[in-house]
Amino acid sequence: MESDVADIELARTGTGRIEWADRDMPVLAAVRERFEKEKPLEGKVLAACLHVTAETANLARTLKAAGASVFLCASNPLSTQDDVAAALVKEYGIPVFARKGEDRETFFAHVRAVLDAKPVLTMDDGADLVSTIHQERTDLLDDGMLGGTEETTTGVVRLRAMAKDGALKMPIVSVNDAKTKNMFDNRYGTGQSTLEGIIRATDVLLAGKVFVVAGYGWCGRGLAMRARGMGASVIVTEIDAVKALEAAMDGFSVMPMEKAAAVGDVFCTVTGNKDVIRAAHFERMKDGAMVCNAGHFDVEISLPELRAMAEGEPVRVRPFVDEYRIRTPAHTQVSAGMHKRVYVLAEGRLVNLAAAEGHPASVMDMSFSTQALACEWLALCAAEGKMLAPAVYEVSEEIERQVAEAKLGSMGVAIDELTPEQEKYMASWQEGT
Ligand SMILES: NC(=O)c1ccc[n+]([C@@H]2O[C@H](COP(=O)([O-])OP(=O)(O)OC[C@H]3O[C@@H](n4cnc5c(N)ncnc54)[C@H](O)[C@@H]3O)[C@@H](O)[C@H]2O)c1
Repeated sequence: MESDVADIELARTGTGRIEWADRDMPVLAAVRERFEKEKPLEGKVLAACLHVTAETANLARTLKAAGASVFLCASNPLSTQDDVAAALVKEYGIPVFARKGEDRETFFAHVRAVLDAKPVLTMDDGADLVSTIHQERTDLLDDGMLGGTEETTTGVVRLRAMAKDGALKMPIVSVNDAKTKNMFDNRYGTGQSTLEGIIRATDVLLAGKVFVVAGYGWCGRGLAMRARGMGASVIVTEIDAVKALEAAMDGFSVMPMEKAAAVGDVFCTVTGNKDVIRAAHFERMKDGAMVCNAGHFDVEISLPELRAMAEGEPVRVRPFVDEYRIRTPAHTQVSAGMHKRVYVLAEGRLVNLAAAEGHPASVMDMSFSTQALACEWLALCAAEGKMLAPAVYEVSEEIERQVAEAKLGSMGVAIDELTPEQEKYMASWQEGT
């Protein structure tokens, strides 16, 4: 199979979208220009499993410009932009295996399809390629595999668990852990686009609402900050004492989910954990509560428990909004005998990608430049005969500095430089005490 996209005729719209995003990705464009000349990935086959968005398209173009043969599949069944997928195939000659709304079977068939291209480099967002390689395609590990990169927190957590068990058999660069990624993409990208997904799906007015954020990591911080900016009263739930303390000192209410459940209007999970909102919480929710997730997998909201509590099948009341009707327990506001309604957005999947367009291009500029440079580093290590042991590697400080400087430059922001005296002072211990 050469490609599998929903409708190749959408290519024109997709190209417009890709070009629009490119305007806001100047750092990646500069990397692409250098890659065109230097061809650091010449002759390499690269499989990427990423959200198929306009920003990803510009990353794929960059990798192709570097000389790689790029094969792309989706890292989530609901995150594909079908017009972008079509444009990549038709206008940019990049094979894509992704359709928005694909079922689980098709999703994995697409993962397998890109692995059939026999990649020597992988690029994951959630470790689907790497885990499939280790479970089904171990032949690829012996066939010149140079390594891979990982885009998201949940993927890195899984890869570290594999490394700890001695199960990881290839080197991986943890792009997610680069400061040029998580401080910006997870915080400002997820913060803004998650609210956008919720608003597009429901048209809810956030001013005056009680907005519950589960998890105060990089994504949760951004989401809480932006929800407050829209006028919501924000409650944070956490399991980590330090993060909870940070949220409290940042001025948010902090409480257990069981308590928050009774007062929240809109709930969003961003923990990377499972069953963060479950039966005990649904039971306490108000009539009309909206529940969604921006964490990587669709396990943060326990939909099986909600389904078991609900009467009948959920009803799709708007695109990306399912209404579950639950017999109202006596302690909620709704009068006895009535049903209480709980609305689940985007089937509990990443609401910012399913119901909106994912992160804005400007922030993906940094994440994807870091991705491209991390890939170049893997190829360079191989070219120099440096054998990387199977492990999870950090992005080098040199790459972080390059990306940050280029982004600042593109924003017209200049910073100070150390004077020779300051440099000496910072490196000394005798002076000043
Ligand atoms: N939607 C997107 O576009 C997008 C972008 C980046 C990351 N992500 C995903 O979002 C998730 C969070 O990423 P992050 O970078 O913020 O991770 P993080 O590790 O920085 O933060 C996660 C936080 O959740 C807390 N937590 C864990 N279990 C909890 C529970 N039961 N209740 C309350 N809090 C709990 C942890 O203590 C931690 O503070 C991951 O799955 C990541 O892959 C999504």
